[in-house]
Parts: sequence; C-alpha cells; structure tokens
Amino acid sequence: MMSIVIKTENVTKVFNPNLPNEVKAVTDISIEIENGEVVVLKGPSGSGKTTLLSLIGCMSRPTEGSIIVNGKDVARLPERFLTKIRQKTFGFVFQMFNLIKGVNVIENVMLPLYPTDAKLFVIKKRAEAILDKLDILKKRDFKTQSLSAGEQQRVAIARALINEPEIILADEPTAHLDTKLSEDLIKILRGLNEDRKTIIIATHDPFVYEKAFVHRIIEMRDGVIKNPTPQIIPYPENEVWDK
Ligand SMILES: Nc1ncnc2c1ncn2[C@@H]1O[C@H](COP(=O)(O)OP(=O)(O)OP(=O)(O)O)[C@@H](O)[C@H]1O
Ligand SMILES: [Mg+2]
Repeated sequence: MMSIVIKTENVTKVFNPNLPNEVKAVTDISIEIENGEVVVLKGPSGSGKTTLLSLIGCMSRPTEGSIIVNGKDVARLPERFLTKIRQKTFGFVFQMFNLIKGVNVIENVMLPLYPTDAKLFVIKKRAEAILDKLDILKKRDFKTQSLSAGEQQRVAIARALINEPEIILADEPTAHLDTKLSEDLIKILRGLNEDRKTIIIATHDPFVYEKAFVHRIIEMRDGVIKNPTPQIIPYPENEVWDK
C-alpha cells in the first residue's frame, strides 16, 4: 500500500527577510510524495530546486508552512530532533559530492554514522558492503581526491546509503558526469528504487528526467510549481532497461 512520506503544505522560504537582498526562493509549495516514488524537481537555474530539496531534507526551515516527514511536522522542531530525523530518514547526494579531502574512501562513507551509537566495526562492515555493491571497494583506502569523478560519485552515493535511509535526495547528481557515468548513476538510482527507496532528484538534465524510472516530474519556475498536479508517468513508457 502506498503511503505519503513527504508532504509540504504552503511552504515558503525567504532568504534575508526584510533586507534589501531579500529573496523569495520558494513560494507556497504544496506537494505530496509517496513511498517508493521517483520524483524529479525540474526547472531552470534559480527556480528553487535546491531550496525545496533542502527544506524536504530538514537541512533548512521554511519561513512559512509545514514540512511533514512520515506524518510528523518537522518545520519547527528543535535542532536536535531535526538532526535525528535527518540522519534516520535521508541520504543526500550532492552536486559537488562533498567528500572530505585527505580522508580515505571508507572513512568518508562511515562519516554520517560517527555521531551515533552504532559500533565502529558494525559501521565499517556496512560501509564495506555498500562499497562492494557499488563496485568501488577496491578503492577503500584511497584518498578521495585521487579518484575519478565517477568513482567519487559512487563514494558519495555509498555515503548517502550508510544510514539505510528510506529517502534519497539527489541534487544535480549528473552535473559532473559524462554520458557513460550518468548512465551508471541512473542504474544505481534505479536499483535503489527497486529496493523500495523513495528518490527525489533536483535536476535540469533531460538525461535524468527522460528516463523511464522517473514516476513524476514537478516543474518549478521562479520558486513556484508550474504543474501543480503533475501526471504520473506510466511506468515502462519510453524506454526498455537493459539490466
Ligand atoms: N542561502 C541563500 N541566501 C540567499 N539567497 C539564496 C540562498 N540560497 C538560494 N538563494 C536564492 O534562492 C533562489 C533559488 O535558489 P536555488 O539554489 O534553490 O535554485 P536552483 O533551482 O537549485 O538553481 P540551480 O539550478 O542553479 O542549482 C535563487 O534566486 C538563489 O539566488
Ligand atoms: Mg540547485
């Protein structure tokens, strides 16, 4: 049965309120995302994709409105609860990978779990298993700056998965990848969705949003949603996957 994992109600985010450099980054956004969906936030640069993604991921708070994660309104929760929800619920894949230089691959992957009670050897085992699944285990002791873009991307994905999140948030995940690596990334995301993960991707890359594994495209422009009730894309429509 489908259930709603994310709901935003009339969410508005204003940066620098009441100052000359005030920006209304997103305005009055109400969306619902169901468990197991792959949703693309599409729109030109500056349209509010990253802002909405970071609101959904509890990395910033709305100026107005509610963000409901698994039935709980998180918009005004104290920071320590937000941190917990963030850690338990979301895996983040950023545009610039955000890996830590000078730290090796396995440590980068383990990082999100360091502030938890999980035992070190348990975290390490889990990190190794994920790196293996993404076919990058052989690089476990390499510093991340010595890896290729595609390898760094996979390390970033491994790190996003270490906490076994139910929702993956990816911001322009193909931005620094060529066609082949983008293809690999889509395959990885598709595999995660087959494991029932909900995936929300902010992108203006047609290579991503034209793929059949995307269920819904939410179009943004100037901080608002252009298609308030986006059609669900019929599942295997425009593409046959070679697995
Ligand atoms: N921390 C911030 N402080 C002030 N303004 C911001 C901040 N973050 C974003 N903005 C502004 O909010 C608007 C939306 O930005 P956002 O980063 O969400 O767009 P985007 O759709 O992700 O763009 P891109 O495709 O370039 O990544 C832009 O006008 C941007 O300049
Ligand atoms: Mg962005």
